[in-house]
Amino acid sequence: MIFIIFAAFIIYNVNSVRVPPNFKFGIATSAYQVEGGWNASGKGENVWDRLMHTRPDLIFDHTNGDVACDSYHKWREDVEILKTLGVDYYRFSISWSRVLPTGFGNKINPDGIRYYSDLIDELLKNGIEPFVTIFHWDLPQPLQDLGGWTNPQIALYFEDFARVVFEHFGDRVKKWITINEPSSICYGTYGRGLYLPFEYPGIGDYLCGKTLLLAHARAYHLYDNEFREKQHGKIGITIDSTWAEPKTNNKKDVMAAEREMQMGTGWWMHPIFSKEGDYPEILKFRVAEISKTENFPESRLPPLDQEEIKFIRGSADFLGLNHYLTYLVSDNELNTNVKTSLEKDRGTKNEVDPNWDNPLITPWGMRKLINWLANEYDNPIIYITENGYWDDGRLDDQDRIKFYKGYIKAVLDAAVVDKCNVRGYITWSIMDNMEWRVGYKFKYGLYHVDFQSPNRTRTPKVSAKFYQDVIKNRYLPE
Ligand SMILES: *[C@@H]1O[C@H](CO)[C@@H](O)[C@H](O)[C@H]1NC(C)=O
Ligand SMILES: *[C@@H]1O[C@H](CO)[C@@H](O)[C@H](O)[C@H]1NC(C)=O
Repeated sequence: MIFIIFAAFIIYNVNSVRVPPNFKFGIATSAYQVEGGWNASGKGENVWDRLMHTRPDLIFDHTNGDVACDSYHKWREDVEILKTLGVDYYRFSISWSRVLPTGFGNKINPDGIRYYSDLIDELLKNGIEPFVTIFHWDLPQPLQDLGGWTNPQIALYFEDFARVVFEHFGDRVKKWITINEPSSICYGTYGRGLYLPFEYPGIGDYLCGKTLLLAHARAYHLYDNEFREKQHGKIGITIDSTWAEPKTNNKKDVMAAEREMQMGTGWWMHPIFSKEGDYPEILKFRVAEISKTENFPESRLPPLDQEEIKFIRGSADFLGLNHYLTYLVSDNELNTNVKTSLEKDRGTKNEVDPNWDNPLITPWGMRKLINWLANEYDNPIIYITENGYWDDGRLDDQDRIKFYKGYIKAVLDAAVVDKCNVRGYITWSIMDNMEWRVGYKFKYGLYHVDFQSPNRTRTPKVSAKFYQDVIKNRYLPE
């Protein structure tokens, strides 16, 4: 027996870089970041169109996504690239205002429907499965004018949008992501204003969070009640999470790192994926206590009532995980005079280790994160829905290859050695694209895009060949 275990261990080690047979690979984009065609064929204005047109000063290189990679016109070429790479999945998102120009469900834009319908058909014709994000940040401007995600009514409008999407594409799309990256939307936008400049720190974030959880659950139940039986698909949510590594072994830092995970990632995970549902206890407790010291008559975290808790709990067939960074986390209790914010609620400080060779390449953090999620939430089905590396856009992108060697290995180790339920790896991104407030400065693509040329010519980088080989050979070279 011991011998057998030992032999199995050796065989695993020898084959540690083999990809298990059912493990899938994919690649991702989002509508605003690649499509362009911002006002083409009946598309309405969304929040990013508005921001980039009215506040170019807030965009690092003063650019916008009016044309971006021009995938609105070049999608056939994009599918050719996907075919060359040999991916199982193409993860893309549907632009809400391309399909419903005003955001409301009363007027459908047939050209918008046609665009995604053609794309889906072309993918399927080429043996690529569409893995579709319903909402990837590009809220229709008329809905933002009503308060965006801080307005609870937006959850109903999101459900209307989801219905249109299921009705028109659900016959062919079998994997749905309701919402991409709730933390970036709620904390990044309505709290800190890092993305869109709507800053209500410590208040807007939690209002947005509640609406967003209910919006997600509405889309899930709509699918479950009215579409699943006919369409046989799966529906989940994509959560963005860093890994919080304690800065020291000091008990306070260890507790701070766990607090960061619970109050950051658990904010979304606990209501949807835990047995009991609702926000994590520590999130409820700390926000209530700190709100009191700030003289708020109630907690800044709007509670979920019993019905809402039940409605949200279990509302996902899988977890989509976007992961980019590991931080060292230390205890940082702030005094009561400091301005209200989520950082104050958490009482933590995040930093990168100056000793790390490259802070963007810390694959051990990803393995720990997947294990933490598996332990905390009863080993849910996980798809990595984003993970990628940015540089200056060079074609000989050896650091990106180093990144993939580390991260794909970390994910496979989590799946094979640690027995976490990770089913696939979808990387960001096919090609360099519009990275929101940093414009075109950060390049994440396996393909270079010539943004000076009206053709938006795509050229493979060295990493494209690397990823293609991993998929084809089902083997990750050392
Ligand atoms: C679309 O926007 C461009 C500027 O990006 C403008 O020149 C063009 O006239 C607009 N087209 C329509 C149909 O509004
Ligand atoms: C754009 O593509 C067209 C057609 O393939 C070609 O004739 C033209 O030279 C290209 N222009 C640039 C700037 O690459």
